[in-house]
Amino acid sequence: MTLRRTIISELLTLAPQGQEVSVKGWVRTRRGNKHVQFVALNDGSTINNIQIVFDAALFPDDTLKAVTTGSSLHVTGTLVESQGKGQSVEIQAKTLEVYGTADPEKYPLQKKGHTLEFLREIAHLRPRTNTFGAVLRVRSALAQAIHRFFGERGFYYLNTPLITASDCEGAGAMFQVTTLDLNNLPKDEEGRVDYAQDFFGKPTALTVSGQLEGELGATALGQIYTFGPTFRAENSNTPRHLSEFWMIEPEMAFYDISDNMDLAEDFIKYCIRYAIENCRDDIEFLAKMYDNDLIERLEGILNNDFVRLTYTEGIKILEESGKKFEFPVHWGTDLQSEHERYLVEEHFGKPVILTDYPAEIKAFYMKQNDDGKTVRAMDVLFPKIGEIIGGSEREENYDKLLARIEALDIPMKDMWWYLDTRRFGTVPHSGFGLGFERLVLFVTGMTNIRDVIPFPRTPKNAEF
Ligand code: 4AD
Ligand code: MG
Repeated sequence: MTLRRTIISELLTLAPQGQEVSVKGWVRTRRGNKHVQFVALNDGSTINNIQIVFDAALFPDDTLKAVTTGSSLHVTGTLVESQGKGQSVEIQAKTLEVYGTADPEKYPLQKKGHTLEFLREIAHLRPRTNTFGAVLRVRSALAQAIHRFFGERGFYYLNTPLITASDCEGAGAMFQVTTLDLNNLPKDEEGRVDYAQDFFGKPTALTVSGQLEGELGATALGQIYTFGPTFRAENSNTPRHLSEFWMIEPEMAFYDISDNMDLAEDFIKYCIRYAIENCRDDIEFLAKMYDNDLIERLEGILNNDFVRLTYTEGIKILEESGKKFEFPVHWGTDLQSEHERYLVEEHFGKPVILTDYPAEIKAFYMKQNDDGKTVRAMDVLFPKIGEIIGGSEREENYDKLLARIEALDIPMKDMWWYLDTRRFGTVPHSGFGLGFERLVLFVTGMTNIRDVIPFPRTPKNAEF
């Protein structure tokens, strides 16, 4: 009978009693002399490697020579207490099979440290580094945390379409989806592109948000969340923007804005706590390598209530700060990340939920306040990140919503179904969107959003 493989994360927890084990993985390093060779093997299950000891007398020279950084192995042997420092157990190898070699002249991930910029150019291989292994495990754990959080609270997971004919955020930053021949476009009588002949019979694009359909779900199932890819064709080359990112959008019937804020705060704290508890080794590694204050900062979030403040109060603090900002700030301007970070990092020293923004800088669906100027928006602002969540209470009044849609010239043919939620059994409701990569950025302490998604999509970059 063949011995079943044990993953390394599990091997490292076993009591060494000379038992036979089988392990498979990729070589991180090899060192030693002509009598004995030490190989550090990693299989992606943990940041930690298992040390394998090869007695050179037991293996043909040629086979051992093929064991270089990046090569893939199957080893069986006995699990013993480690003689050396740095690990509790090691394997004394009895059999060795090299699945695939990795030519040391050509394999780009040699032992020396590489810059994150260089690793972006080899994004197809960077998951094999310690850094990206750690980031991707944390990312996966956070995704699990999200489903658990909502599952435990009776939310339903709703899948909203990726191809859509409506522009939820009204920013016009959409990627068109078409099967028309761009070199030979069909035209109507007025000389415009005839979308009647396109695949869906009308112009369509990749979604910028699942919210509108999420509201349809919430006004039927009560409370839902979406978790899926989202696309924005904005030409923003910043460390916080991607053209393709993942968003979590909960939407709740019968929630007002303060219920919405409570949920957002509980939600983020739950995710951070889950990562600290389940990804300790990875987070400690990232803290050591990139960001000494990481764990303290994460715990700071758990131990503080978020500040709740109106936009108007926030502007006043910024104006009175005496600080010279790159973008001047006054009532009516959209906040830049430097303003958001000033409030969070310098003024309050904890996360801030800013509410009641001017209607003009927010989307059409937000509930209008009685002052006639502001809407019941809420942005959650985080240290190092700026805006991590955007949300609002929704306008549930049919006439007010319609007036807003007309004022913004949003075509009714795209919106009739959305307005129906306000025509039939309308209810107060609220929701928000969390940018998944911004959460992963915060939890891993990385500083560029391109380093927390396996294959980033940004302007002029769609490699891999
Ligand atoms: O503030 P946004 O645009 O809000 C919405 O899309 C609403 N429909 C959400 C809702 O109420 N259901 O985006 C929400 C969050 C932002 O706070 C940010 O974290 C993230 O999505 N985000 C991005 N993340 C990475 N790259 C981009 N280009 C992003 N744009 C927004
Ligand atoms: Mg926003």
